[in-house]
Amino acid sequence: MTEKKPQLKVDQLSICYHTKRGDLKAVSQASFTIDQGQSVALIGESGCGKTTLATSIVDALPMAASVTSGRILYYQDQKEIDLLKLKRKDLRPLLWSEISMVFQASQSSFNPVRKIKTQFLDTVWAHDRSRSKEEILQRASELLRVVMLDPDKVLNAYPHELSGGMKQRTLIALALLLEPKLIILDEPTTALDLLTQEKILRLLKELKKEHGFSLLFITHDLGIVSELADKVVTMYAGKAVESAPVETFFRSAEHPYSRGLVDAIPRLTMDDREIVSIPGTPPDMIEQEIGCPFAPRCSRCLPVCKESIPESKPVPGGENWYCACWNPMSGGDACGNHR
Ligand SMILES: Nc1ncnc2c1ncn2[C@@H]1O[C@H](COP(=O)(O)OP(=O)(O)O)[C@@H](O)[C@H]1O
Ligand code: SF4
Ligand SMILES: [Mg+2]
Repeated sequence: MTEKKPQLKVDQLSICYHTKRGDLKAVSQASFTIDQGQSVALIGESGCGKTTLATSIVDALPMAASVTSGRILYYQDQKEIDLLKLKRKDLRPLLWSEISMVFQASQSSFNPVRKIKTQFLDTVWAHDRSRSKEEILQRASELLRVVMLDPDKVLNAYPHELSGGMKQRTLIALALLLEPKLIILDEPTTALDLLTQEKILRLLKELKKEHGFSLLFITHDLGIVSELADKVVTMYAGKAVESAPVETFFRSAEHPYSRGLVDAIPRLTMDDREIVSIPGTPPDMIEQEIGCPFAPRCSRCLPVCKESIPESKPVPGGENWYCACWNPMSGGDACGNHR
């Protein structure tokens, strides 16, 4: 087996929003790795920090946010680059050509006063002036066709002339245009109808096989996760509480929150559809936490959980499997000590 090489490492990353009520810890010491060619799903309830984390990779955090600790290491050929240390002018050449992101609110990603065609041309020319207009538009048309859009219509349109779903698909095409090594998709299919979602997914799978890029995608849909992910990272209240290969996640997630998400999938095989959702709501991330943030909702909560925050540790006997929990589903704590 060939050794896996990392494409991106998120290392102990913490990000705060400065709000009137105080600092909101949107991401708290999150760590995980995306290998070359690997597809990683970032999951968790709304508000748990997924968009904030993904946005920090491409230096697009809102003004109110600041990274308070950690590193984001990107691997370009043999070189390790800490993206957080790069000056904006040094990061710019990497965007679109090495790393591209389709934002959750992708509707506002286009310049409203420029035709889509111009925006495709500008994106390529910002990196490579030698490419001809014809060559770029031909590739743009191919990609737009792949995402099931009419290239002539879309390229000659202004952003406001496209529907939300069309804009999102156009952005997926733009994200693929320079064949980046890492593509980040924040809820890429939520604005799309089911049939289009299905097609886009199939397309992403095919393109990934063909071009071998790495993928970080955020979704609420565990069906998409099972189709597209190699690895799943579960976030809760800003923390990456579990990171596991996709089969391991669905078969035997160790963190009670991950398990709750898996159990919330409708059991279509059962006579009557039974959905077990996780009672309660995530905590206020402005308040100072003392113990595990999931404790108030957790049926496996022990006294230690309320006193001390569990660290992410390798799951004993597991491979590329990490969990932050004092009393995981298998009974032992994350260090393998059975209670
Ligand atoms: N611009 C902002 N200013 C203040 N708080 C924000 C801002 N954007 C997001 N947040 C807060 O940060 C937390 C994480 O949000 P987000 O990263 O969007 O989560 P997710 O993508 O998982 O839904 C939430 O509590 C959210 O309210
Ligand atoms: S640390 Fe304790 S409260 Fe937190 S998820 Fe694990 S068992 Fe539940
Ligand atoms: Mg989000």
